[in-house]
Amino acid sequence: MEKKMKALVLSGGKGTRLRPLTYTGAKQLVPIANRPILSYVFDNIAKAGIKEIGVIISPETGAEIRETMGDGSKWGVKVEYILQEEPKGLAHAVLVGKEFLGDSPFVMYLGDNLIGCGIEKFIEKFRKTGADAVILLKPVESPQSFGVAEVDGKGNILGLEEKPNNPKSNLALVGVYIFSNEIHRAIASIRPSARGELEITDAIQDLITKGRPVQSHILDTWWLDTGKKDDLLAANTIVLDEWFKRKIDGKVDKASQITGRVTIDAGAVVKNSTLRGPIVVGPGAVIEDSFIGPFTSIGNDTKITKSIIEHSVILTGAEISHVNRMEDSLIGRNAKVIKCQDKHEALRLMIGDDSVVEV
Ligand code: G1P
Repeated sequence: MEKKMKALVLSGGKGTRLRPLTYTGAKQLVPIANRPILSYVFDNIAKAGIKEIGVIISPETGAEIRETMGDGSKWGVKVEYILQEEPKGLAHAVLVGKEFLGDSPFVMYLGDNLIGCGIEKFIEKFRKTGADAVILLKPVESPQSFGVAEVDGKGNILGLEEKPNNPKSNLALVGVYIFSNEIHRAIASIRPSARGELEITDAIQDLITKGRPVQSHILDTWWLDTGKKDDLLAANTIVLDEWFKRKIDGKVDKASQITGRVTIDAGAVVKNSTLRGPIVVGPGAVIEDSFIGPFTSIGNDTKITKSIIEHSVILTGAEISHVNRMEDSLIGRNAKVIKCQDKHEALRLMIGDDSVVEV
């Protein structure tokens, strides 16, 4: 009988590009529309009928990931957390997950990747073609920052390179892969790359070199690698725009005006304010005398007073007061942005390492 497919979700790494947020938290838990990125990854895996997920975690952020995502029962799946002591590469993560994977085929999903569709059709392609790997590709503007594939007219992969200086195409490897157990042999035969990591790209190249069938699929929806602020804001915009509905469970007073697809969770309070969707407001948030424009996520237990905010992500516990106006911003947990009313005009800042303030 055919072995049941499993999933391996990679949630280690340092998230250097999202500092300062990732000094205090895992990049895979940064919320998009008030839900951790990993929740969308779990949604997609569970929707494809996969019941067992192995999550590769690091010593630094593993506990937080485990606490946030739990045992998987929310998704009807079983989750096993597997510690990767050091970030030695994506293929090394598969090595660490080998006991969990056994000889089952598996979907490998990078925990900071968001795609605009389910993964069912890629799994179907894997089953139908009997390939040892199905990889997803997407044309990008800066292929040098990714794994890059060279493909013939029929979608066969001719070769792969990790972050090449002179890319042979503009097709980047999206962080979702499907493998047969043949990948373990390929990983056993590769050596660390110039950046000192065991690259999954090199292992797939090894399959190709040995004549094993590797299929590709060009993604026709959006793909966001949420590792940077602008990508994160873009992901927030798309997810709010495509997946959110009007749903008002919180308290909105008569003086407020709510237009369009606005989700206000139970326990949130809106007073004398205008909200124009798409917007999500988390439980415990209090918005008062403010205007909130489209594509904004207001996190749990935040306080927004006398401010104008648009196209921004405000994380849990943050406070924004008398700010006119804030756009394209990402405000970290418990951060405060306050315009003083009583003192003479001046910037008074306490900014964390690697923060950016544009005034
Ligand atoms: C990894 C892979 C790369 C892939 C990318 C997608 O890169 O090595 O091939 O294109 O994920 O997000 P990393 O983000 O680890 O630098």
